[in-house]
Amino acid sequence: MTTDHERAVKFAYWVPNVSGGLVVSKIEQRTSWDIDYNRRLAQTAERSGFEYALSQIRFTAGYGAEYQHESVAFSHALLAATEKLKVIAAILPGPWHPAVVAKQLATIDQLTGGRVAINVVSGWFKGEFTAIGEPWLEHDERYRRSEEFIRAVKGVWTEDDFTFKGDFYRFNNYTLKPKPLQQPHPEVFQGGNSAAARRMAAAVSDWYFMNGNSLENHRAQIDEIRTAAAAQGRTVRFGVNAFIIARDSEDEAQQVLHDIVRHADTEAVHAFGHAVKQAGSASPEAQGMWSNSKFEDLVQYNDGFKTGLIGTPEQIARKIVALKAIGVDLVLGGFLHFIEEVEYFGKRVLPLVRELEEAGATAETA
Ligand SMILES: Cc1cc2nc3c(=O)[nH]c(=O)nc-3n(C[C@H](O)[C@H](O)[C@H](O)COP(=O)(O)O)c2cc1C
Repeated sequence: MTTDHERAVKFAYWVPNVSGGLVVSKIEQRTSWDIDYNRRLAQTAERSGFEYALSQIRFTAGYGAEYQHESVAFSHALLAATEKLKVIAAILPGPWHPAVVAKQLATIDQLTGGRVAINVVSGWFKGEFTAIGEPWLEHDERYRRSEEFIRAVKGVWTEDDFTFKGDFYRFNNYTLKPKPLQQPHPEVFQGGNSAAARRMAAAVSDWYFMNGNSLENHRAQIDEIRTAAAAQGRTVRFGVNAFIIARDSEDEAQQVLHDIVRHADTEAVHAFGHAVKQAGSASPEAQGMWSNSKFEDLVQYNDGFKTGLIGTPEQIARKIVALKAIGVDLVLGGFLHFIEEVEYFGKRVLPLVRELEEAGATAETA
């Protein structure tokens, strides 16, 4: 039996386009935010079986991340250096206007043979907005704006004489030419886990990214969004964040985790913990991303340890298949030493995932 390519779980990696790596720790991280390293990483990733790369947008430093390359320009550079990889550019409504995003990304899509996508993030860092003079909207208003943003971008990408009268954006008989190469349009991902984020995913996003969490919590989010999307005649796909520590032995992998946390940049982690109170905890239900995160969890800023992809290739492959069984379509990986570990993952973990998929493994057997 061959693996149905469409059903095979997909892999993405976090593009380290901001300095400091993916963990807020003073442990050695053999990675870099510069373009040469990132080009090599992107080439290694596509050779190793990764289909997507996700860039980050940050306008100012925060908990490390002293230097930050801009996401769209950086994504384009990675696309130019690769052949198959899809690069997801992070976009922040507020600083970006949907007309600019629709136009700029349509051009990049044309130039790269249809390999660009966007991740619409809604903002959690008030200091960043204040620094660039952008009004800081209240939590659920940020999502109301992001939803309009996505409707507007998709409208411009797919319709002629596009007209839109929203509270945040307006378009009048606008026709974009050329439209993007990808039909019906480049994929729209979103980051954000609060109730408002989930409502938005069900209503307009193609993909919903989850922070790291337990299998049960991921299942609950997927079920909730699937049901809400189906009621609107839509389907949504799901990506999950994980900080992946794959080593030949479980002890070795656990030791790496232990060392990352032991060398955590305590001051930066606490500052981050304070800043993210503007995210999920600030939502009406106080249930979004990071609202239940402990110190250890915040050392990886998207709760990536909680997903538990830490151990031997065999253990990790089984966990991934268990995630697939609850409806996860894509695993988004962060790594300590990016190039080396992406290569190791491609050689040692990914083939096991494919074997288990072919054997029809389920959550019960995993
Ligand atoms: C996979 C993923 C990637 C994200 N990337 C960024 C980013 O590049 N820049 C940013 O400001 N926020 C980013 N976010 C943060 C979200 O946009 C959002 O602010 C955060 O998840 C809080 O969500 P909540 O308020 O719904 O709980 C990302 C979130 C996820 C899950």
